[in-house]
Amino acid sequence: MALTRIVIDTDPGVDDAVAILLALASPELEVLGITCVAGNVDLEKTTLNAQRLVALAGRSDVPVFRGCAEPLAGPTGTAAEVHGFDGLGDLEWPTPRVEVNELGAVEFLYRELTRGRVTIVAIGPLTNLATLLVEYPDAADLVERVVIMGGASFHGNVTAAAEFNIWADPEAAAIVFNASWRIDVMPLDLTHQAFLTDANLEELRSWGTEVGQRVADMLEPYAAFHLEWYQNRDLIMHDAMAVYEVIDPTAIVKSGVEVEIETDGLFSRGATHFSRSHRHATSTTRVGTFVDNDRFVDLLKSRLATLRSPN
Ligand code: RIB
Ligand code: CA
Repeated sequence: MALTRIVIDTDPGVDDAVAILLALASPELEVLGITCVAGNVDLEKTTLNAQRLVALAGRSDVPVFRGCAEPLAGPTGTAAEVHGFDGLGDLEWPTPRVEVNELGAVEFLYRELTRGRVTIVAIGPLTNLATLLVEYPDAADLVERVVIMGGASFHGNVTAAAEFNIWADPEAAAIVFNASWRIDVMPLDLTHQAFLTDANLEELRSWGTEVGQRVADMLEPYAAFHLEWYQNRDLIMHDAMAVYEVIDPTAIVKSGVEVEIETDGLFSRGATHFSRSHRHATSTTRVGTFVDNDRFVDLLKSRLATLRSPN
């Protein structure tokens, strides 16, 4: 079966880290490259974290690219309190051996689009993707589809209305969701169904691998954040849902929607308004509605267990 060619657009971030490692460990996917964007932490840190993660996975063959350093309308904010000061749980890391590719993220994305069909897995603010559409208007016709972690229809996680990836750059999100390309979006409504527990982290540690140890350790600040915000330590795997959907599209139930992005609201800036009317049943935009967490966690563990870090 042909591999699915993907580019991961990301702001690592510890849940991004799990998503990236899952992708690098999955034989269904060809990861063409990782494009970084400012989000959870600033661009220099998200880019360094992507370098660290490809090295951890023994996949320094996967190139890392710098993208946009701030949102279209100017700086909004980071999530360092969730992911640690360095964005990856504040562990000690070796210096990556492979440099960041000198090509810009947007130029890389477009180059790959001209070489064949690409699925873009977008798990951070959408600044790079919006810039791609502005600089290369035909990009939307060249993309296989865009799978996005973002948005919320029941409650945000930055404000009552807005989820972080959309809140961080609403103007970019509006450009991305108004484009003609196919979108599958995994909002908080879905991602809150997928989580790891402390028992899962102990199992990762029991493997005795660098990946198992580091994933468990980097998720510790994230667990503390969840305990404070949600009164339990279940670690929500937001970004991994976008990768999981590409690995196995049948694993996540989806339905047609129309999505409008709020850019001007006093209290609702960054809100995602989902219309689930029957009129949108055949829309090219679909929203994830259900995932079986046990099935997801089993696949995640089986894939991460295959990763071996170089000495
Ligand atoms: O709201 C969850 C999203 O915001 C995830 O992508 C997480 O990494 C943060 O960026
Ligand atoms: Ca992210």
